[in-house]
Amino acid sequence: ASNYSFPDDFIFGVSTAAFQIEGAWNEGGKGESMWDTYLHKNPQFTPDRSNGDVAADSYHKYMEDIQMIQKLGVKYYRMSISWPRLLPNGTDNNISREGAMYYRTLFEELLKVNITPIVTLFHWDMPTALMDLGGWTNPKVMDYFEDYARVAFNLYGDIIKTWTTLNEPHQHCYNGYGLDYFVPALMSHGVGEYLCTHYLLLSHARVYRMYEKEFRPYQKGKVGITLDAFWAKPRDANKAEDVLAANAYLHMHLDIYAHPIFSDVGDYPTFVRERVNNMSLEQGFSRSRLPYFTDEEILAIKGSADFFGLNHYTTFIMSPSSMEPKWNVPSLDHDTGVKVDQNLTWPRPGPEWLTVYPPGFRQLLNYVQDNYRMLRDIPILITENGMADLGQTEDYERVAYFNDYLHQVLLAIHEDGVNVKGYFAWTLMDDFEWSDGYTFKFGLYKVDFDSPEKTRTPKLSAKNYANIVRTRRIDFNYIKPPII
Ligand code: FCB
Repeated sequence: ASNYSFPDDFIFGVSTAAFQIEGAWNEGGKGESMWDTYLHKNPQFTPDRSNGDVAADSYHKYMEDIQMIQKLGVKYYRMSISWPRLLPNGTDNNISREGAMYYRTLFEELLKVNITPIVTLFHWDMPTALMDLGGWTNPKVMDYFEDYARVAFNLYGDIIKTWTTLNEPHQHCYNGYGLDYFVPALMSHGVGEYLCTHYLLLSHARVYRMYEKEFRPYQKGKVGITLDAFWAKPRDANKAEDVLAANAYLHMHLDIYAHPIFSDVGDYPTFVRERVNNMSLEQGFSRSRLPYFTDEEILAIKGSADFFGLNHYTTFIMSPSSMEPKWNVPSLDHDTGVKVDQNLTWPRPGPEWLTVYPPGFRQLLNYVQDNYRMLRDIPILITENGMADLGQTEDYERVAYFNDYLHQVLLAIHEDGVNVKGYFAWTLMDDFEWSDGYTFKFGLYKVDFDSPEKTRTPKLSAKNYANIVRTRRIDFNYIKPPII
């Protein structure tokens, strides 16, 4: 066992997201999300031609979900509200009573058994009506997001005390607006992806300030954001250019979001600003493709979080690219100027992007804390971490992944003094994994998607996680693969 244990105030939880588990895509007055609409029109988007119509059917089976969470022994559940379930056309002119009731009941049932819900407002399922207006490329959508957040705070703020505004703006903007790996699949490299980034940051700040002014005085809750980061490892740590490439990658993917919110500057990092401006000029543009914040906006963004939600899965190896753009247009990829090389991967069935490299986690936690002094006073919460395979219940690799990654968290706490106060495993049960459909599984519980009941069965990793939560230590011998 590891000699270190998790401090008494360290919290454990599990994470899910509405679109990935709820199903019931057209029940209870729900409007369509852009994922519903896009997947219905483009079934080939996922390798198994699947969608989120039924998913794990948590809309109907939430009582079973709650029992599963209880069995893990965790006291926190990070989940999201489906924006179109609450506001079918995305506007607060029309609040769905059934949608509102569904989340009210779910939150109350969780609280009855002492599980605290931590609620994300935007985990990617934008109402189609708003995507039709241009989604996050249209600053008007910020008004709708603010309205939605206000509805949620009014409806649930008496019992929900921890909110996150956004989940992983980087993945959303880069893969959804820059590329076609996620919906809305805009392929707007270097333009849409930066508008999305910019307006998401502003949306986050507006909601934070709105809560602060209108709700915090009597609801007394906290509002944060969840950012994602892979660790970037220089191909050769003795080569200055590889080190620079790794730094460039982190600046363009993490700091572009973290710096405006968590630094004293309240703006994009100088590196990002200069890189995009220079690349814009080089491409013959006379102005930057990355918008500027006004002084007032900077004041709103700076310090607009009560905690830093961090999602982490993997490490990429970095070296400078030949600057050959992947596409013949400026893009975040191109502007980053680095080559991502995933040869840390061992041959194992799972998503290509997910390389298992536990030490990267500790380094990332240190990087985040060292760069953002604000994090001495507000905590880091690890809002997602996990691994995918093909779904077997004897998931020894997942057991090892959680043990090894959590061990790095212990080292970061005890040896480096990183202010990390919580951990949420991704994910409670197998779910709809965006562009992978149901082909890869991240769950602590297996879901039999072929059964009409969507039967749930605990995997070995659930048993192992429950043991960590109960003992507040990692026992590497608790579950061992059979020796063949
Ligand atoms: C993250 C997402 C989450 C899940 C995991 C595997 O990027 O936030 O919804 O799909 O990846």
